[in-house]
Amino acid sequence: MGKVLITGGCGFIGSHLAYRLSELGYQVIVVDNLVTGSLDNINPREINFFECDILGDQFDEIVKFFRPDYIFHLAAQANVSESIRNFLYDAQINILGTLKVIELSRKYNIKKIVFASSSAVYGQPKYLPIDTSHKADPLSPYGVSKYASEHYLKLAKKLFGIDFTILRYGNVYGPMQNTKAEGGVVAIFSSAISKNVPPIIFGDGEQTRDFVFVGDIVSANIAALKLGGGQILNVSSGKPVSINQLFQHIKSISNSQSEPIYKEERKGDIKHSELCIKETTQILQWAPSVELKEGLFKTLNFYNK
Ligand SMILES: NC(=O)c1ccc[n+]([C@@H]2O[C@H](COP(=O)([O-])OP(=O)(O)OC[C@H]3O[C@@H](n4cnc5c(N)ncnc54)[C@H](O)[C@@H]3O)[C@@H](O)[C@H]2O)c1
Repeated sequence: MGKVLITGGCGFIGSHLAYRLSELGYQVIVVDNLVTGSLDNINPREINFFECDILGDQFDEIVKFFRPDYIFHLAAQANVSESIRNFLYDAQINILGTLKVIELSRKYNIKKIVFASSSAVYGQPKYLPIDTSHKADPLSPYGVSKYASEHYLKLAKKLFGIDFTILRYGNVYGPMQNTKAEGGVVAIFSSAISKNVPPIIFGDGEQTRDFVFVGDIVSANIAALKLGGGQILNVSSGKPVSINQLFQHIKSISNSQSEPIYKEERKGDIKHSELCIKETTQILQWAPSVELKEGLFKTLNFYNK
């Protein structure tokens, strides 16, 4: 099947991807410095794991030794608030980290980079659903660093012929998501309800998001290995729900009597977000397959354990 290297493979999404690729018969190499990821997410007896910073020299040694065919680049500073607190750190990990992946891909003839970008590149939506022709106008350094990385990938293809697919994820949820993670509202609600703590909703709860189950993000990544190339694609469920509806689903699945606490709307929060996935379904021959209730059920089972 081939060799794949996953940066950030001990994180929430990367670990799911590592297991699915391994089940499919790929030789999987995970590189992660465990800054937010955890060894609870992957078993080093099953997956080749290297504790290593993508900005460090050891990363070069690993790529040189394994010579992967493909790199999934997921390692990132993925916290929007942290990016606002610390522009420099965000840019170091997200921009220089991507440049390092590009440099090594050039040096060791990697066939393709599949890059984890974000709907954060769009900023305030001008229309819904947001397609990839929508103007990118990020509202945070995190969005800027993802957008800058996308540009470097496009240039690397033009200048050195390194193929890529950029996947702009919507709001991803599922088992193993860190409850401290930015935007991980499903993880935060599920964890709070399982501990009998009332979850907090910022604003009136009528803001909408199209949550996508992590398994669907994984299948889009895997489809992107062989299909398409040189494109930017949205990956989400395309089915928006309000935060109030989301809470009610979680509450009913978990038979909870819990009620949320409403707090003042957070500055800069987007009211409605929904990605258009039409192009992605065509190019990757992919479609989200996990309905929200099913995905929430799986996620709640995880937090109840
Ligand atoms: N979770 C979402 O809803 C979401 C939405 C859009 C985009 N994304 C993107 O998807 C990717 C994965 O996100 P996630 O939610 O799994 O986050 P995560 O924090 O769980 O995973 C990121 C991983 O990268 C590792 N890492 C960070 N800096 C590193 C470095 N310098 N060297 C090596 N490893 C490093 C962390 O330890 C962690 O395991 C990120 O690029 C993120 O920006 C996530």
